[in-house]
Amino acid sequence: MITKQIGVGKAHSKIILMGEHSVVYGYPAIALPLLTIEVECQIVPADKPLVFDFYDPLATAVYAALEELGKKKEPIAYHIISQIPPKRGMGSSAAVSIAAIRAVYDYFGKTLSDHLLEILVNKAEIIAHTNPSGLDAKTCLSDQAIKFIRNIGFESLTIDLGAYLVIADTGIHGHTREAVNKVAQFEEANLPVLAELGRLTNLVEGAIQTKDCQAIGQAMTQAHTCLQAIGVSVGQADHLVQVAQTQGALGAKLSGGGLGGCIIALAKDQASAASIQAKLREEGAVNSWIQKL
Ligand code: MEV
Repeated sequence: MITKQIGVGKAHSKIILMGEHSVVYGYPAIALPLLTIEVECQIVPADKPLVFDFYDPLATAVYAALEELGKKKEPIAYHIISQIPPKRGMGSSAAVSIAAIRAVYDYFGKTLSDHLLEILVNKAEIIAHTNPSGLDAKTCLSDQAIKFIRNIGFESLTIDLGAYLVIADTGIHGHTREAVNKVAQFEEANLPVLAELGRLTNLVEGAIQTKDCQAIGQAMTQAHTCLQAIGVSVGQADHLVQVAQTQGALGAKLSGGGLGGCIIALAKDQASAASIQAKLREEGAVNSWIQKL
């Protein structure tokens, strides 16, 4: 059998604009791909077959792909080259799994449908997050912003606001699985707040259509208060949200699973985004990015 000497797969990261956590409970979420922040996986020949650690989402992704192809005993190794900071709510686990599955299929010269890819990625996401809504995998598979509803589907969104999103890394590892479990533990008390997050996400969807950046910013800040109320924010995220607002952001919030990770701030134009980014760095953001909306 002829295989390539190297199999390569790539995937991009993502950021959630609105609806993290409430999406697990069936409310909509809005998320954007970050097309320039990528991960690459390379599959190369090795001396012996892989030994799999099924607590590791990446290993699970590679295994799922090999199993689907009937090639579990093939002697291969994998390498990851990533620009996506792990555990920061930027979809690193989903993106790494997508890249790995694509690389396995590339190595064996097989074609892979998006539908099968998503099924295989979500096997790995169950290891990473226990009860994933599927939002991360779907956004990392999409080239456009999406509105996603668990078990229902998704639609592409056109976002053309002339505004900018500043993404700032608190430097603290996020813990999506723990955060999702924490919200579930106090589900009854959290349900009204999750419903409010759902309402705010719907409001943002409407405001994207009418290009009402003020309304989007206000809803983002209100969503941050909700995320605090369900216990998934941390002090440094609260601090950076406050700093962004003081620096002229239209709104700011935690993004992703939380207990660390990134915050996002909406800036009315590029100059404002640059000044918010500079201040966030001064105040401890370890890394930051600007995304046009
Ligand atoms: C994690 O990126 C987003 C969460 O809503 C979990 C999920 O959707 O599975 C916190």
